[in-house]
Amino acid sequence: MNHPATEVLRFVLDGEVVELADVDPTRTVLQFLREDLGRCGTKEGCAEGDCGACTVVVAGPGEDGRLEARAVNACIHFLPLLDGKELLTVESLSAGNGELHPVQRAMIDCHGSQCGFCTPGFVMSLFALYKNDPAPDRVAIDDALAGNLCRCTGYRPIVAAARDMYALAPGQAGDWLHSPGRADRADEDEKRRVARLRSIAHDDTLALAHDGRRFFAPRSAAALAGLMAEHPDATLTAGGTDVGLWVTKELREFDTLIYTGHVEELRTIETDDEAIRVGAAVTFSELLPELNRHFPTLEELWLRFASPPIRNAATLGGNVANGSPIGDSMPALLALDATLVLQSATGLRELPLKDFYLGYRQTALRPGEFVARIDIPRLAPGDRLQSYKVSKRFDQDISAVCGAFRLRVVDGRIDDARVAFGGMAAVPKRAPACERALTGAAFTADSLAAAADALDEDFEPISDMRASDEYRRRVAKNLLTRCYRETAASDEGRAVSRVYGYGRRRRA
Ligand code: FAD
Ligand code: FES
Ligand code: FES
Repeated sequence: MNHPATEVLRFVLDGEVVELADVDPTRTVLQFLREDLGRCGTKEGCAEGDCGACTVVVAGPGEDGRLEARAVNACIHFLPLLDGKELLTVESLSAGNGELHPVQRAMIDCHGSQCGFCTPGFVMSLFALYKNDPAPDRVAIDDALAGNLCRCTGYRPIVAAARDMYALAPGQAGDWLHSPGRADRADEDEKRRVARLRSIAHDDTLALAHDGRRFFAPRSAAALAGLMAEHPDATLTAGGTDVGLWVTKELREFDTLIYTGHVEELRTIETDDEAIRVGAAVTFSELLPELNRHFPTLEELWLRFASPPIRNAATLGGNVANGSPIGDSMPALLALDATLVLQSATGLRELPLKDFYLGYRQTALRPGEFVARIDIPRLAPGDRLQSYKVSKRFDQDISAVCGAFRLRVVDGRIDDARVAFGGMAAVPKRAPACERALTGAAFTADSLAAAADALDEDFEPISDMRASDEYRRRVAKNLLTRCYRETAASDEGRAVSRVYGYGRRRRA
């Protein structure tokens, strides 16, 4: 390796710097807590990011130098990803004298815990909400809890705890842990925590080894390209929300794992007149405010993408590169004519996303190549954009079908059409016959219905446990009709009512 390397993993737990040299690259934070430290407050339920029993909070200095706290699923978070971060678990919250944190107090007062197995995870998700949003509405509370399952209490008391926890905050918020939301200025405690993290920060590639297996976390795109050239069979990981499951569920082992989350060039979002240019290692939580600003009609899609702990780790780059036919971002990206910037030691090349998927989970990436950036063109005048996810549950479920539509309507006619689906073929795919039928047609219910029939030429969906082929066919056509009705309604100034799951209604 031609780059300076640090061979010790350092992170902070309970105010102490933890230093580890011999680290199994795919040891999870949950295994470290429970098995290595015997710190068993954090529970294991599913070991695949679904139930939230293992939720912990990872804090690090944000762009403005303030401490940012994000909930993540410890069961699929690899330990080396903690480099330079502070780890907070349910044990971190109560004061040394045993006094409970306002979140814990509210959970007790509101009877938010019965068997208690899920409780530490709920407490940590609520703690992340407490630190990030001083006055959440019901949509924000439900979203904060979307990644936590409880079979006992029925959520009402837990939602009540989320509302009441702020009233229990100490009057004089003396420290970062207890002050709700983000104070105008960092208190002494926050400054101390940030300074501690700065003391362990480094600019080198983190290089760890254990039992012949290696982990690298490079800091620059050049260093990443160099490592990929040296280790063409290496497995890349960003948030690890797909790769983590290959380890915990498929028991796969990797000789070399390369983490992209510290690569500076892959961590940027740049917006110019033409496009939003998203570094492949930007997490969904970091990206969504920018995407929602430019594509407000996609907000519900992202609200239904996994849960906050997953979105805090998962990246758009990982979603695109993973190439799942039921990944939720790709239909919208295809509808928007997104382009990928691919990089390797020999340079950069651009590839339209529509040409990236070659077959079931096969992509056009060459050995040693990685996704550096996703360029998403901005909307043009007349563009109507919609994307709909169809799944059995509102939150934290996998799509049976996900459709995306961008129709450019000029003087009542469709000038340009993009229609793309996930869940309808072995890859996320555009619908050329439907697009042809739409282009040049009047923007009316009749022409949209005729174009919907053309979807039969574009797709031969399969039946599986999520949906039958017939259901998929029918729902795909109905989504195009829904797109017409909603866009026509907003053209006429009529409000479109959206139901964000039970009890969550917003008007747009
Ligand atoms: P990783 O797991 O780190 O990597 C995924 C793949 O991409 C791997 O093959 C990796 O090698 C490759 N890769 C990563 N970065 C690069 C790069 N820069 N260049 C080349 N290859 C790269 N997905 C959805 O679409 N919708 C959902 O609602 C959803 N819900 C989920 C819920 C749960 C509980 C879980 C565990 C997962 C869910 N997922 C969902 C899947 C997953 O979260 C997404 O696919 C996510 O975007 C993957 O990003 P990541 O950064 O975690 O990727
Ligand atoms: Fe279920 Fe981690 S154990 S999400
Ligand atoms: Fe028992 Fe939540 S209190 S699962």
